[in-house]
Formats: sequence, C-alpha cells, structure tokens
Amino acid sequence: MENRMPREEGIDHSISLLKEGYQFILNRSEQFDSNVFETRILGRKAICMIGEEAAQIFYDPSKFKRNGAAPNRVKETLFGENSVQTLDDEEHRNRKAMLMSVMTPEKLESMIELTKMQWEKSLDQWSKMNSILFYEEVKELLCEVAFKWIGYPLNEQHVPKMTKELSAMFETAAVVGPNHWMGRALRNNVEKTIHQLIIDMREDKLKISKDTVLHQFAFHKDANGHLLDEKTVTVEIINMLRPIVAISIYINFSLLALLQFPEQKEKLKTFPDYSKMFVQEVRRFYPFFPFVAAKVKQDFTWNGYQFAEGTLTLLDLYGTNHDPVKWEDPYVFNPERFAHWKGTPFSFIPQGGGDYYLGHRCAGEQITIDVMKVSLDFLVNRMEYNVPEQDLNFSLDDIPSIPQSKIILDQVKRSR
Ligand code: HEM
Repeated sequence: MENRMPREEGIDHSISLLKEGYQFILNRSEQFDSNVFETRILGRKAICMIGEEAAQIFYDPSKFKRNGAAPNRVKETLFGENSVQTLDDEEHRNRKAMLMSVMTPEKLESMIELTKMQWEKSLDQWSKMNSILFYEEVKELLCEVAFKWIGYPLNEQHVPKMTKELSAMFETAAVVGPNHWMGRALRNNVEKTIHQLIIDMREDKLKISKDTVLHQFAFHKDANGHLLDEKTVTVEIINMLRPIVAISIYINFSLLALLQFPEQKEKLKTFPDYSKMFVQEVRRFYPFFPFVAAKVKQDFTWNGYQFAEGTLTLLDLYGTNHDPVKWEDPYVFNPERFAHWKGTPFSFIPQGGGDYYLGHRCAGEQITIDVMKVSLDFLVNRMEYNVPEQDLNFSLDDIPSIPQSKIILDQVKRSR
C-alpha cells in the first residue's frame, strides 16, 4: 500500500536551504517526525532523507543516479564539469578506479610525511610572528602539501594565490551573490593552470616522474585504451588538490574542540589510541558537508512511499551523524563513543556512505583521517600558543561553517 509522503507546502525553498544550512533537513524531519519528506528546491519537487536506513537506499545504484543531480552552482565551483561525482555505473567505476589507484599505502605514507614536514616548516614561520589566523595558515600549509603530494611542488611565491583559488571552491559553493561568482572565476584560474600542466606533460615539455599522481592521471587510459581528455584530467587533479586544502576546516575544528573541551588534551597526551577516536568524533560532531544529492533512477517504493524517476533527492549527512536513533546524546562531544563503535558504512557518513571503490563514498577519507591525526599531534604535543579573547562561535546556517574569528593564536612556539 502506498502512503502519502509528508510534504512541505510552498512554491520553492531553495533560499531557506541556503539560509538554514545544516539544519534545513533536520528541522523539517523533526517537524514531520519522519526520516523522509517532500519539499521544493530549484523550482521542482525534491525528496529529503535522513538516517542510516535512508542512506542504505540512497547508495543503492539501482535506485539512484548522480548524472544531472548536482546544481550548476556546485559544478561551477566545487566539482567541475564531467567529474567523478557526476558519473554513474561503468563510467563511474572506471574513473573511481583511477582515483583510488593512487590511494596506496606508499602514497598515504608519503602524505603523512609531507604533512609532518610542512607542519615543522610552518611552526618555524609562526614562531617568528606575533599572531596567526590559524585557519588561513593551515590552508596554505595544506596547499603546499597537496602540490608536493601530486608531484608538482609549488613555487613558494605562488602558494597564497593558489590557496585562495582552491579554497574559494569549497567556501563559495553555497553562498549567494558576488562571492559565489568570484568563486567561479577563481576556479577557472586553477583550471587554466592545471590544464596547461597536462598539455606540457603530454607534449613532453614538462618531465614529471612516472610514479606521481599527476603523471598517473595524465597518462591514465580508459576502458577503451584512450587517454582521458585534458579537461577531465584537470578536473580530477583538482578533485585531489581542493579537498586536501579543505581538511583545514576539520583541523580548525580539532583546535576548537581542544579549546571548548580542555579535558580532552590530557586524554590525548595520556592514551595513544585516543587520537583516532578524537578525529572520528570531530568528523561526526562538527558540520562540514551538509548533504549529498542524487536523482531517482527508476520508479520504486520504499516504506510505502513512492519515489518517481528523475526526482531530486538529498541525503542529510550532518543529520545522519546526529541521529538520536543511532547516536547516544548526539550533541555531546564524546570521542569514547568510538571505542566500541559497531557502525555500518551507512551510519557514520561525514564523507559519504557505502563503498569506496564501487560507490561515491569520498576517495580521500583515509587521507583526511591521517592528515588530521598528524595535525592533532602537533596541536597537542609539539606546540604552545596563547588564545586571545575572540569570537569562536560558528553557525549552523553557514556552509561551510567556520568559527567567526578563524581562530587567532598569539605567540606560537615549539613545545620544550
Ligand atoms: C566525495 C567529503 C576530503 C576526494 C566526497 C563526498 C563527500 C566528501 C561528502 C560525496 C560523497 C557522495 O557523493 O556520496 C569530504 C570531506 C573531506 C574530504 C568532508 C574533508 C576535507 C577529501 C580528500 C580527497 C577527496 C582529502 C582527495 C584527496 C573526493 C572525491 C570524491 C569525494 C574524488 C568523489 C567520489 C565519487 O564520486 O566517487 N567527499 N571529502 N575528499 N571526495 Fe571527499
């Protein structure tokens, strides 16, 4: 028997979605007391879902597809055209295989080493400054790491500009107005730079070692033995660079957690295994990616509700990570909840759910965890700093959400 899905009345709620940010789906799900409801976004009917059970069907490729789901504003800033995020079936599996082929133990180890080295270098610089804006500094730190990791170290002079261009992609995807358009323009700048690199490599004007990410992508052949077109390689290289810089958001939240919950520092110093749990809790507790979007692939019925082919569907990531059905006291910061955590690939989904290789789950989840752990070690054990009076509040209305002050630190120095 079919049920009528709870429905939000009104012509369009796109502006509320941008305004209410991380709480748009949560608020309505509570209001309707339902893990699924219908609304209108971008002038069309849309379904919103929340929770583990919903994630399970959202990541079923026989029910949902990605092609045509991402709005233009997201493609023009965050993803790029024809990126892995917008592909389905065989095409997606091939492209994803290329991306996952560089997530080897050696490359993950090299990311850890590069991050440590860059933290050492930054600490030297910061100790000569009176004060730093932590968020801005960590973005630059990670931008240098990202380019070294793909095999093309940046000239130091270019780091600030490149950092600004890459971070605009994740800072402006959900803003309305001039900043969003600036984000699009800055994405075009990065695309031009990387595109030229690929051309130079293919024309043998630029020699890059074969075992680098850059070389592997530039000369990757698809299932038919053809090189990918240069634009697509560019988009996928940026799909590595941009999110590495974006880990700055989580590192910023790690520092915020140490400031908000000072008792955590002692636990981190005392118990070696605690940092993994702390990092997981930062990714669960604080907001980053609000939701993911797909379209219904073909008509189906779930829990008595009709899902019609082509309907835009949003899965709430932040809400699922705070679902009281799965998480005890979801709004309490408690890393120890992960000590005996028995989750599924669908209950803890800050970076998407399902399978890394076959599905759309984030290709860089392990890198994210590793980079956060290295950074946490520096924050807890290797540096000292003063935290002046400032506004550390962050808003669940802003996507992405960043503490107001971006965290000012005074008199940073190495621990003795
Ligand atoms: C996909 C979050 C870091 C590469 C995703 C998705 C989310 C996400 C929510 C979409 C999942 C879906 O569509 O179902 C994050 C967050 C990060 C992060 C919060 C922390 C900064 C990274 C890193 C990399 C990366 C470091 C690469 C080095 C990708 C790629 C995809 C993806 C390539 C597309 C996967 C696909 O469509 O098959 N990420 N990510 N991400 N992420 Fe991340």
